[in-house]
Amino acid sequence: MARPLPEIVRIEWPPGHDAPPPATDATLDRAADVLRRGGLVAIPTETVYGLAADALDEAAVDGIFRAKGRPATNPLIVHVADVAMARSLAAPWPEMAERIAAALWPGPVTVVVPKGPSVPDVVTAGGSTVALRCPAHPLARRLIERSGIPLAAPSANRSEQVSPTTAHHVLESLGSKVGLILDGGPCERGIESTVIDCTVTPPRILRPGPLTRSDLEAAVGGPVVWPAADEAATGPARSPGSRARHYCPKTALELPADPAARVQAHLAAGRRVGWLVLVADERARTLAGSRDLVAVPMPTDPAAYARQLYATLHALDQRQLDRIVADPPPADEAWRAVADRLSRAAEPGAGS
Ligand code: TXA
Ligand code: MG
Repeated sequence: MARPLPEIVRIEWPPGHDAPPPATDATLDRAADVLRRGGLVAIPTETVYGLAADALDEAAVDGIFRAKGRPATNPLIVHVADVAMARSLAAPWPEMAERIAAALWPGPVTVVVPKGPSVPDVVTAGGSTVALRCPAHPLARRLIERSGIPLAAPSANRSEQVSPTTAHHVLESLGSKVGLILDGGPCERGIESTVIDCTVTPPRILRPGPLTRSDLEAAVGGPVVWPAADEAATGPARSPGSRARHYCPKTALELPADPAARVQAHLAAGRRVGWLVLVADERARTLAGSRDLVAVPMPTDPAAYARQLYATLHALDQRQLDRIVADPPPADEAWRAVADRLSRAAEPGAGS
């Protein structure tokens, strides 16, 4: 018998109120029950939706890997309510992590620290380090606080697909593999957290994200190292999920140097094209009238671009297009995370 589709329950916390409405707290308590029984709950965070289970329950965490089709070699992030909970999962809790947490938590940065004995090996893919993050989404934190359960939660999508930034994206990607989806509205940041390794000196960014290297350098009061530009694709996988070929839309995406020419060539060959337009020049405006082209003007501010990127890719994936072409983003640091996600979304070899 087919399993039923998940229940999607709206949760909200109107601004200016000390506590969420009673209905929201009741839903969070229901979610906590599901988690206590070893089940999975999709939760909103400020970055992307997460697929959560009790991080200390090995069987429950196994369920995450099965639902996502995620390789057991790719470790999970554990979400905590505060620094005290983070400390209880680390051994030892490094000074660098303390500085980052003090300055930037709750927020979209994940610290990799030595793993404490309470964390099951399945969470860390057998490794001796654990990734910890305190999410800024007030409802995600309230769920962790009320339940007292640290939550292992990767992005709530099938492995290698684009991360979800709405409850509807979770439903599309995971369907009946998750029983309960908490709908906290669209995610504010729109791309996954910055991951930083605090087990090395100087600390090293493993995945660029909403917080930039300068944000992290200000927090630690010293240098922070980027991975070399091509390291994620070719080097040893210090952060396995940061390998290339991740975050891929179903429609092949290209990032050509001359996007207008590429779009024009596709249209001439009878292909249907989606175009993420950053530079709306004369050529873009002329092509925009084509019947087989869906041109999406993208924000020229990197944070706003990030907020819309995955939602745009999800929407274009519904349009039966042959290709998606994206204008290359500017080279400066503020665009680093967007550039990273776009280059991973671009399929190597799809450039014809
Ligand atoms: O914003 C986010 O980080 C979202 C939300 C739900 O919090 N989560 C997320 O999880 O993006 P996931 O599983 O899709 O990505 C986790 C990343 C992967 O690249 C994984 O390899 C890396 O963190 N990671 C996890 N544990 C690690 C560890 N111990 N050492 C190095 N990298 C680790
Ligand atoms: Mg993911």
